[in-house]
Amino acid sequence: MPFLYAVLVLVVLVGLIFLAKVIQLFIGNKQVLQELDQLHPEKLSTGTVKKLSVLPLVDFYAGDPGLKTEAGVSYLIQTGDTKILMDVGFNKNREHPSPLLHNSRKLGVSLQGIDFLFISHRHLDHIGGMQEQKKKLFSLSQGKVELPAIPVYAPVPISPSSWNPGPRVEVINQPKVLANGIASIGSIPRNLFILGYTLENSLAIRVENKGIVIVIGCGHQTIERIIERTQELFDDPIYGIIGGLHFPVGNGRIMIGSINIQNLVGSDKLPWKGIREADVAHAIQAIRRVNPQFVALSPHDSSDWSIDQFRKAFKDRYHDISVGKEMVL
Ligand SMILES: [Fe+2]
Repeated sequence: MPFLYAVLVLVVLVGLIFLAKVIQLFIGNKQVLQELDQLHPEKLSTGTVKKLSVLPLVDFYAGDPGLKTEAGVSYLIQTGDTKILMDVGFNKNREHPSPLLHNSRKLGVSLQGIDFLFISHRHLDHIGGMQEQKKKLFSLSQGKVELPAIPVYAPVPISPSSWNPGPRVEVINQPKVLANGIASIGSIPRNLFILGYTLENSLAIRVENKGIVIVIGCGHQTIERIIERTQELFDDPIYGIIGGLHFPVGNGRIMIGSINIQNLVGSDKLPWKGIREADVAHAIQAIRRVNPQFVALSPHDSSDWSIDQFRKAFKDRYHDISVGKEMVL
């Protein structure tokens, strides 16, 4: 009998935790909508850049087998006069050199000359690991990486780990010009079922004679809201959309048995609803409306099925994201 009581108590306890999570989900989603309603940013004034290059240093696919791949993101972004490192990868196996360092060395990229670090959001696949997420740190590798005292722009407080001291963090939530022709579009909130309230920033780069190129980390904000925000900030057309949009439909990149972890943690719906085919179709429709000339979806948080939908929808305007394959706009 005591055993039966223990099982009953356990079942009730799990049920109550689940119920609390469901209530939190609905309240959180309502709060996010209210917050978004109150946000009306003014136009941003910035110059333009003559050229833009985005070189994936970490992502799920690579053309060269000598490069490391993982379900994380780090992109080297260069304009004529500014060099940015956006996110620092996952480093799931806690290696030194990390995939970020290994790939940078292979590709002949020096991280010393970067002007600033841009952390899109504080999730493990963008800040260098699970421990980093728990401790609110970021690590470029699990060994010493000397960095100068460059700025680090992040949507929430985060500190450099003891492996890469030097940079100084500035939390930015409002849209802000970070360098000539380069801005953060400001934080857009999303309430995720498992991960909870998440703030994410994206970059908007104003390319001369072309328009705005948006570079996105994980896309938890939703591409619909990212486009809406970008249009509020700039009069220029949206020329390019590059990065993660979080569509792990079917198989995700992080699976435990048959459980698609990215689908479970990255949704603001009940777990059995998750992220579906219709969400991908809706996103494609929203992107089509702004008619970008360059679309590239990160494979780190989107499935091959979703990537294929984007390929079919945007044809020759679609570009695969692959470690070491530079995208020049
Ligand atoms: Fe991500």
